[in-house]
Amino acid sequence: MLISIPLVSTWLLAALTAVSNCEIDRESIVRQFNLRLNQSHPYSPLQVGNGNFAFGADVSGLQSFLPHNTLSSWGWHNSSLPTTPNQTAVSDFTGQYWWTHGRLVNYNQPNPAEKDISQWLIANPHRINLGRIGLWFGGNNVTEDELTNRTQTLDLWEGKISSSFSWNGKSVVVKTIASPDTDTVAVTITSEYLKNGGLGVFFDFPYASGKNKFDAPFVGLFNATSNHKTMLRSRKKSATITHTLDATAYDAEIRWSDQGQIKRTNNETHQYVLKPRKGCETFAFTATFAPTAANSPNSFEEVEKSATAWWNDYWSSGAFVSLPISMNSSAKELQRRIILTQYLLAVNGAGKDPPQESGLVNNGWYGKAHLEMTFWHLAHWTVWNKWNLYDRSIEVYERFLPSSYDRAKHQGYQGARIGKMFDPSGRSAPGEINSLLIWQQPHPMWFAENEWRKSPTQKTLQKWDRVLTGVADFMASYAWYNQSTKVYDLGPPMYPVSENTNPNQTINPTFELAYWRFGLDVATKWKTRQHMVVPGSWRTVKENLAPFPIQDNAYVLYEGVEDMWTSPEIASDHPGFLGLYGWLPPDPRFNVTVFQKTVEKVYASWDLANLYGWDFPLMAMAAARLGDGEQAVRWLLDSNNQVNELGMPEGGNRVATPYFPASAGMLLAVGMMAGGWDGLEGPVFPEGWEVEVEGFQTSM
Ligand SMILES: *[C@@H]1O[C@H](CO)[C@@H](O)[C@H](O)[C@H]1NC(C)=O
Ligand SMILES: *[C@@H]1O[C@H](CO)[C@@H](O)[C@H](O)[C@H]1NC(C)=O
Ligand SMILES: *[C@@H]1O[C@H](CO)[C@@H](O)[C@H](O)[C@H]1NC(C)=O
Ligand SMILES: *[C@@H]1O[C@H](CO)[C@@H](O)[C@H](O)[C@H]1NC(C)=O
Ligand SMILES: *[C@@H]1O[C@H](CO)[C@@H](O)[C@H](O)[C@H]1NC(C)=O
Ligand SMILES: *[C@@H]1O[C@H](CO)[C@@H](O)[C@H](O)[C@H]1NC(C)=O
Ligand SMILES: *[C@@H]1O[C@H](CO)[C@@H](O)[C@H](O)[C@H]1NC(C)=O
Ligand SMILES: *[C@@H]1O[C@H](CO)[C@@H](O)[C@H](O)[C@H]1NC(C)=O
Ligand SMILES: *[C@@H]1O[C@H](CO)[C@@H](O)[C@H](O)[C@H]1NC(C)=O
Ligand SMILES: *[C@@H]1O[C@H](CO)[C@@H](O)[C@H](O)[C@H]1NC(C)=O
Ligand SMILES: *[C@@H]1O[C@H](CO)[C@@H](O)[C@H](O)[C@H]1NC(C)=O
Repeated sequence: MLISIPLVSTWLLAALTAVSNCEIDRESIVRQFNLRLNQSHPYSPLQVGNGNFAFGADVSGLQSFLPHNTLSSWGWHNSSLPTTPNQTAVSDFTGQYWWTHGRLVNYNQPNPAEKDISQWLIANPHRINLGRIGLWFGGNNVTEDELTNRTQTLDLWEGKISSSFSWNGKSVVVKTIASPDTDTVAVTITSEYLKNGGLGVFFDFPYASGKNKFDAPFVGLFNATSNHKTMLRSRKKSATITHTLDATAYDAEIRWSDQGQIKRTNNETHQYVLKPRKGCETFAFTATFAPTAANSPNSFEEVEKSATAWWNDYWSSGAFVSLPISMNSSAKELQRRIILTQYLLAVNGAGKDPPQESGLVNNGWYGKAHLEMTFWHLAHWTVWNKWNLYDRSIEVYERFLPSSYDRAKHQGYQGARIGKMFDPSGRSAPGEINSLLIWQQPHPMWFAENEWRKSPTQKTLQKWDRVLTGVADFMASYAWYNQSTKVYDLGPPMYPVSENTNPNQTINPTFELAYWRFGLDVATKWKTRQHMVVPGSWRTVKENLAPFPIQDNAYVLYEGVEDMWTSPEIASDHPGFLGLYGWLPPDPRFNVTVFQKTVEKVYASWDLANLYGWDFPLMAMAAARLGDGEQAVRWLLDSNNQVNELGMPEGGNRVATPYFPASAGMLLAVGMMAGGWDGLEGPVFPEGWEVEVEGFQTSM
């Protein structure tokens, strides 16, 4: 769809008209943003992967010079339990009691008297680096600087890295891909050095570090060799290396194209070298990582074929947006970010569980994920109509439902209270913020309603009914009836989105009030659509929630907050209340005049240099909903919202790089701007930009 045609020559108009009825040439746009590099990046790898598995490469196409990581959704490890008396078992952890509306509630918070077991629960299990694979230069210690003619390309359309360089006058060419179906990296090497045995491949296996909350850029300990074991079983053209780290064990299954030999270099380490038979100039191998080897690894050709087909389909299906990249540098930069982000999120943000903030690049928060971030990580797939990737992990709410019920019951509430920082088992890590945050609760309602808009079927209703019932019951039960004001309050104690207020004083935060009403409204509709009885408490709470707190004609963070606009603490963190209009459709009590004033005050007084991540998409969605596409793009490209040459969102001074909620949030914002929302025929982009869009789902 063409939205805006500036005054230009007639031939251009004709050209535009000519393309406007056609499908966008996606391949040519995608390939324009192929990465072309000539040196390793100090902390951002080039990646191949499939959502559950990713392999990070340096300039060699492998991990020859830098130990970039090989991470998965299934590789996790527990350190041994503390030996401190009375803190030796998970059951020794008792959390903390806080006063909550006149009663003591036990929260999953670190207890100073149980410091060691509290910390163990936070840090365990942690995600592990499955192994390092690099070039072996015939026993020579070669550094990247010694290589000449380095060139490296990531072909986004096929998900393939091609790397080449010269070493001592002879060239080496490496191709690297990952399987879409198994956790396999597949490689071919072409070089004269292979003829005389001067080149091979090394494998090395690290122990879990486990102690570092942010384990970046490189995960694991390669020098703690006595803490773990590896065992090699080699066959004629394949080998299995079993790696055992305490209770964790998995296999690396290696298969190669021709004769070759794999050996451990030294009994004291976990390093192995695979030396191809002399004589040939090319050598291909695949390495498959799995909890248990399947003994049927694919060949390079098989992996290449399925990877090419998968990536072609990925780019061809769902939505696409084409910005005027040859006419405007901002459009070009935004298009670059969109394309690279789409690649990176298919690799890092499309696994069986919602991703950690740093995806499969490195570890933040011990490799664990956060259920409030699930909104940012997954929402864009729905707007971009890439439902198959969304479906891989969205059932997390159903899977965790039993523990969500337990959590609510333990705290004396009805229904199911969704946790926060989780590992694949669904256990939520102890934390003051972790236990008191509430904005993750209505996320399932947002997802369910979006699914309904796509597929208004009985199946969709059934899919979400149990989750929405449990969560809505909790939300109604959590809201507290205040006898003096005759409204339902949210908190205290609680943390709002921005996590920076005194939880014992935080009451009725604006965004959470709106989101609570939105969530209860969706849950109500869900029952009505199924001709089922709507629990009376849902309606009572929904209709009697506290009013939005307003001061000086602007929305504020929470009721009674003092000097918010001048507080360096508050006016520098997530302006979550801007989610009121943009992220969320307007609430029945929403006042756009008040919102406009709120936006102006944020622009004028917020410490924008301190913002990061999804703050910018959040503000872009608010600007877009107010009709200002120019400002929306400005936020997405704000100088504090950097995306490096590899497409990785820079974490800034608050979090490690990459911080994928920023990338995924950007796609959500662009998706809303491109697909529009109820009551608006999209798209919303800067005046004068010729934008073509296809395949988006209209937002709420
Ligand atoms: C490597 O790439 C950078 C950026 O594209 C360029 O400035 C530089 O000249 C290149 N170096 C070599 C040795 O090709
Ligand atoms: C780690 O320990 C916890 C608690 O005992 C257990 O539930 C979990 O399965 C373990 N995970 C791994 C990867 O060993
Ligand atoms: C451990 O628990 C026992 C029994 O409850 C108690 O007597 C002892 O003081 C505790 N030890 C420590 C180090 O807290
Ligand atoms: C909140 O109140 C609880 C008691 O209910 C207290 O233990 C805790 O320290 C207080 N937190 C803050 C941040 O004031
Ligand atoms: C290899 O070379 C690098 C850079 O010169 C040096 O830091 C490293 O210690 C060398 N390693 C070995 C095993 O010789
Ligand atoms: C670099 O590549 C060029 C062209 O491919 C080739 O002519 C040249 O010999 C190479 N240089 C080295 C040092 O290998
Ligand atoms: C292992 O390496 C880490 C840094 O990667 C270092 O801090 C530590 O001291 C090393 N340990 C040993 C035993 O060499
Ligand atoms: C490693 O140990 C095996 C037996 O355990 C022995 O046969 C082999 O020679 C050792 N290799 C090295 C490099 O020490
Ligand atoms: C009732 O609401 C008022 C106004 O929000 C608040 O100041 C008061 O603390 C609430 N009462 C209780 C018992 O929480
Ligand atoms: C919105 O707020 C403004 C004041 O900021 C007020 O004048 C106006 O009446 C309000 N609109 C509605 C519909 O309440
Ligand atoms: C690109 O578009 C933006 C947004 O409309 C505008 O501010 C900027 O001036 C344009 N740049 C050029 C070079 O046209």
